[in-house]
Amino acid sequence: MINNDIINEIRNKSDIISVISNYVPLTKRGKNYFGVCPFHDDHSPSMSVSPEKQIYTCFSCGATGNVFTFVSEYEHISFIEAVKLLGNKLGYNLTTNEKVDTRSVDYKIYEIASKFYQNNLNSSLGKNAIEYLEKRGLSREIVKKFGIGLSLNKSTLTNLLINKGIKLDKLIELGLSNTLSNDLFLNRIMFPLFDLSGNVVAFSGRIYNMKDSSKYINTKETPIFKKGNLLYNYHNAREHLKKNDYVIIMEGFMDVIRASTVGINNCVATMGTAFTKEQATIVRKMTDNVILCFDGDKAGEDATISAINVLEAIGINPKIIRLENDLDPDEYIIKNGKEAFVSKIEKAINVVEYKLELLKKNKNFNNLEDISNYIDNSIRELTKVNDEILVELTLKKLSIEYNIDYELLKKKYETYNNKDDKKEIKVVKINKKGLTVYEKAERSLIYYMLKSDDVVKQVENNISYFPTMEIRFLSNEIICFYHKYGKIDVADFISFISSKEELLKVLYEILNMNLKDEYTNLEIEDYITVIKKYFKKSKISKLEKSLKEENDPLKQAEILSEIMAVKGVK
Ligand code: UTP
Ligand code: MN
Repeated sequence: MINNDIINEIRNKSDIISVISNYVPLTKRGKNYFGVCPFHDDHSPSMSVSPEKQIYTCFSCGATGNVFTFVSEYEHISFIEAVKLLGNKLGYNLTTNEKVDTRSVDYKIYEIASKFYQNNLNSSLGKNAIEYLEKRGLSREIVKKFGIGLSLNKSTLTNLLINKGIKLDKLIELGLSNTLSNDLFLNRIMFPLFDLSGNVVAFSGRIYNMKDSSKYINTKETPIFKKGNLLYNYHNAREHLKKNDYVIIMEGFMDVIRASTVGINNCVATMGTAFTKEQATIVRKMTDNVILCFDGDKAGEDATISAINVLEAIGINPKIIRLENDLDPDEYIIKNGKEAFVSKIEKAINVVEYKLELLKKNKNFNNLEDISNYIDNSIRELTKVNDEILVELTLKKLSIEYNIDYELLKKKYETYNNKDDKKEIKVVKINKKGLTVYEKAERSLIYYMLKSDDVVKQVENNISYFPTMEIRFLSNEIICFYHKYGKIDVADFISFISSKEELLKVLYEILNMNLKDEYTNLEIEDYITVIKKYFKKSKISKLEKSLKEENDPLKQAEILSEIMAVKGVK
């Protein structure tokens, strides 16, 4: 790990204008510089770089950050690697990190193994394997693109690596050999698995010419391979997002490879395990537009539902494709062709539509009771939806589809929704991406805290607690940064929280809100009042609730006077 002071020192010495100019030509306009943003497909100069703040912001795609995040995103390397890269250019010696060094040996070993497997396909032993691949419609070009290869018998790979001076212990640790010096992958079609930067870090080997209980064998978890922390084809797919800003998540890597054979390259695969929170976070780094396209069978349905939950928990509303007849995307594309699959993508449905679709199961729509049941369940489902417009539209759709008075449906929805006491305060969303007054106030305060030490002090003295969790954490970090360094600096603050992805995301959203740079003290006080009011309101609504539930008149009077006190009426 590199000390924070060193990181700030390197950042101060690396002028963002000259660093970004090495990647993208910049022109000066007013006090800022402008260039074509490299993080989305564009030809107009939508990225502005501020020499004063030492940050960049793209008005079109929202990319923003400091000099390190720019290099990290552009070069597809981690934040710390970007710090090292820039630091070393300035004469720091930051590469002698032991952990990184052993890792690069591990990558090298996997690179050799992968080359070896690929070459085997061209040897005389590869005939059957080539036949198998051809039968599956995988061209030479695709085989090469995905690094597909072939493992042989006994200990060919182990011998090769040991002859290159690598210790058996290392090969065992990396999941390539066993203690008897034999290869772990025998006679299988080998699919290399890549980490997020595109290094081969594991293999999945498929049977092709023999019977075996397991279709695929995977490398065990190793220091460089944690299955739940990566997505197959991530490094390729993210390149294609610049053209098509959505990612399709599939179950198997064969599905991803098949999609690529018909020119659909923005797909990743979970590789058969439950979609993890880590994978969701990786996806969110790519784009907010996510389509789930799991296998058409029951397992695929279950996987879809659980992936929806994981994605929604981090604020992504995915779209869903379901394939009929238990087909997986690979089989679907082979059977129906590219156009049919593209049309599936275009017709992907939202989560609400999907859930209502699921409720239709095992219902007989000629039976009035079943219809009533279905509508009832659908309305209950709708009370979980936060988007009022979506609720409205769905109620209208139900009303038309089943010829039921809209007002009746609406009334029922309201009855169910009010029973639902999950919302203490009814939060009014202006639109899907819109913010409530409270959220706006919170975010504005964070924005101006990053501009002025005075606002930091004002917030510290007046607000003990922000309503939204991420904002609370962000504000704590800003205050902590301020006390550590004695002043506020956005660019250094970005480094300060660089390991906290969730917070960075919110911070970037805030920097992208296009708030005006000037502010008055009165405005800041207003925002603080809004936050204070929020707490007052939520306290009152809690008290009013307990007042309703209380039967003892004495206790009722007590609560009432407490309410008065909070309201400020004595
Ligand atoms: P599938 O069984 O759906 O594989 O498993 P597939 O994509 O249809 O493969 P083909 O078409 O038969 O070749 C989906 C994913 O689950 C993992 C693999 O990562 C696969 O891509 N899996 C599957 C295993 O790890 N082991 C297995 O035995 C089967
Ligand atoms: Mn398949």
